[in-house]
Amino acid sequence: MAKSAPGIADQLVQSGRPDRIEGRHVNMPLELGSTMVFDTLAAFETARDARYTPGTLYYARYGNAATFQLETALAGLEGADGVTLTSSGVAAITLTLMHFVRPGAHLLVADHVYGNTRAFCDTVLARMGVEVEYFDPMCGADIAALLRDSTCAVMFEAPGSGTFEVPDIPAIAAAARAAGVPSILDGTWATPINCRPLSLGVDVVVASLSKYLSGHSDCMMGMIASTSDHATGLRKTVMAVGDKTGGQEVFLALRGLRTLKIRMEHVDRAGREIAGWLGRQPQVRRLLHPAFASCPGHDHWARDFTGAAGLFAVVFHPCSDDQVRAFVDALHHFGIGVSWGGYESLVLPVKPQRSAGTWTEDGQLVRFNIGLEETGTLIADLAAALPLLNTAPE
Ligand SMILES: Cc1ncc(COP(=O)(O)O)c(C=O)c1O
Repeated sequence: MAKSAPGIADQLVQSGRPDRIEGRHVNMPLELGSTMVFDTLAAFETARDARYTPGTLYYARYGNAATFQLETALAGLEGADGVTLTSSGVAAITLTLMHFVRPGAHLLVADHVYGNTRAFCDTVLARMGVEVEYFDPMCGADIAALLRDSTCAVMFEAPGSGTFEVPDIPAIAAAARAAGVPSILDGTWATPINCRPLSLGVDVVVASLSKYLSGHSDCMMGMIASTSDHATGLRKTVMAVGDKTGGQEVFLALRGLRTLKIRMEHVDRAGREIAGWLGRQPQVRRLLHPAFASCPGHDHWARDFTGAAGLFAVVFHPCSDDQVRAFVDALHHFGIGVSWGGYESLVLPVKPQRSAGTWTEDGQLVRFNIGLEETGTLIADLAAALPLLNTAPE
């Protein structure tokens, strides 16, 4: 019988593991080490000259057998020509931006990006003489009007951190590519289970693997996945800076990858159930979940994504900061903390930062990460705390 093409669940199980060797372990062994030694100087020199080629064993900062397995698995999932691991999601973002910027260059950044992306642009890149211009993430093809000869890259997110607008990825990517400008998308929320931005015309996908990909809140890691035009250059930049993933983190990320699809399916289902329920409560003014029509860019999500993550926000009817604090503190099954994408549910009030526009929603924004607990337990927890907030004014 002809072998069918592997589906994403098959890839998650089969890739990133040793080839068939009798009596092998199911998993890649935990690889710890720095120096690698060679039998001859000639063999050493061959490895040194090929050190930027993935798979070359030279020195652990350039990768070892386990990191190459993980990079290859991720490249297959993203449909990327090259993947380079980084020590965190922030490192993936900042090293990619550093790779493309030049003093005096113009950088376009979506107004809804993750706070640390904005902070890096406004501090480090500004000090390097880069002109950072924030744009409305819902501008679509109109981004063309903002592109200049000096524009070095377009950085955006889908959906936006904290506020969940879903931009028109193909329109923004196409306008940038037509002008010869690389587009960079933070694809952490979707993971390749729900969206493959490179197939939509994006040049570089950056992601935090500390979130869903590793999935257990026990690992810090990032990844840069790109087309062949940028893969080697980006790898050289990461290596030049000396950023490095630890062996234990690689082991944990490979382990997390195996269950990514079933975890994403659960948080999609549970997230939509809880978000839908929250959206019907009298304290909620607006639901910001890409799978719901109330979220800006919902049509883009429906066109370009195959599912949703379990991270979303709601705007509560105007109330005091103290009321929001009391609500958050009253939740027993939602931890209060940054990050998301682990097995545990989280809650956090969000204060959106804007430069190109202004955040006009009237009311308090609170973000929820739905984990793997019983959905009924989480709804009961929310139901008990919601009376601490105001309902719609008469
Ligand atoms: C959208 C997004 N990208 C990147 C990051 C950074 O990832 P890390 O915490 O692995 O540095 C985060 C972290 O919260 C995030 O929300």
